[in-house]
Amino acid sequence: MIRIPGIVWVMLLFSAPLWSDEVTSFADREDLDPVLVQSGYEWLTPESKALQDDEFENPGWLWVERGRQLFASDSGEPSCASCHQTSDLIFSSSATRFPRWSDSQQTLINLEGQINQCRELRMARESFALESSEMLSLTAFVSQLARGQPVNVALTEEVKPFWQAGRDYFFRRKGQMNLACSQCHDERAGQRLRGDLISQGHPNGFPLYRYEWQSLGSLHRRLQDCDAGIRAEPQPLGSEIYLSVELYLAWRAGGLTLESPAIRR
Ligand code: HEC
Ligand code: HEC
Repeated sequence: MIRIPGIVWVMLLFSAPLWSDEVTSFADREDLDPVLVQSGYEWLTPESKALQDDEFENPGWLWVERGRQLFASDSGEPSCASCHQTSDLIFSSSATRFPRWSDSQQTLINLEGQINQCRELRMARESFALESSEMLSLTAFVSQLARGQPVNVALTEEVKPFWQAGRDYFFRRKGQMNLACSQCHDERAGQRLRGDLISQGHPNGFPLYRYEWQSLGSLHRRLQDCDAGIRAEPQPLGSEIYLSVELYLAWRAGGLTLESPAIRR
């Protein structure tokens, strides 16, 4: 079989003079119309949808289970549960509110950042590496508690500069291919790229199981893949710019419900 390099696919996509019928064009709008905001789930094959919906078959639940155990007994006392089940710090909807401002760190943090904040400040333990099995398990567990609840980030004064930086990144052309996120996820949602249907690029399924990774992975890992795909420099996991993009994406996805652990190609 002849393998066509990814870059050729992208060039073909962007030289196509006419969009196919299935295209939903968001080109004229800066932000998505709430009525038209669609989760990546909508663009999956029926098989992948069924896999995501099946708690027993969906491999993401292995991480959720592992996270449940870690949460209850994180190698000794206190465990996460010592504080979060015995006090009113219950957070069944917690994952819907990240990223958000952290008073103790005086910066924007996502769920991973909150978990490491608890590890360091509340438990006097070392933080977990991003994309480590522990971190993915805990974020999967906490996100799954909020499954079905709408994304709900607060655009407080403190986080507005981050939102702005994230938005700028989303609309800025970059990389060897000189493309912006918006050119795929706003303007070309519904079109095919390398056998993938381009979705609107929402963050509501993360952490999620990707066939290509054969693993669960975070939103930041996906952003690195998208940046690499247009031959732009991938930014570090947990970097301020990816946190800002995460905030912008969460705001842009407002109203969509959390799906973690989702399934994607
Ligand atoms: C000693 C008590 C304590 C322990 C142990 C602890 N936390 Fe926390 N956690 C807090 C407090 C207090 C907050 C409120 C925000 C802050 O100050 O960080 C919080 C906030 C959170 C939140 C955000 C809740 C919300 O929606 O406002 C999450 C998620 C969380 N912790 C997860 C964890 C996880 C996962 C662990 C185990 C690795 C853990 N915490 C261990 C005290 C603790
Ligand atoms: C060349 C087109 C292209 C560009 C440019 C691009 N992406 Fe993507 N992106 C894709 C494809 C293809 C996928 C996988 C299919 C899908 O979910 O859309 C994807 C997936 C995603 C997802 C996962 C969606 C889900 O439902 O799990 C997010 C989030 C995302 N992109 C954000 C971004 C951001 C932010 C940028 C800019 C830094 C960007 N993308 C740039 C093509 C692109």
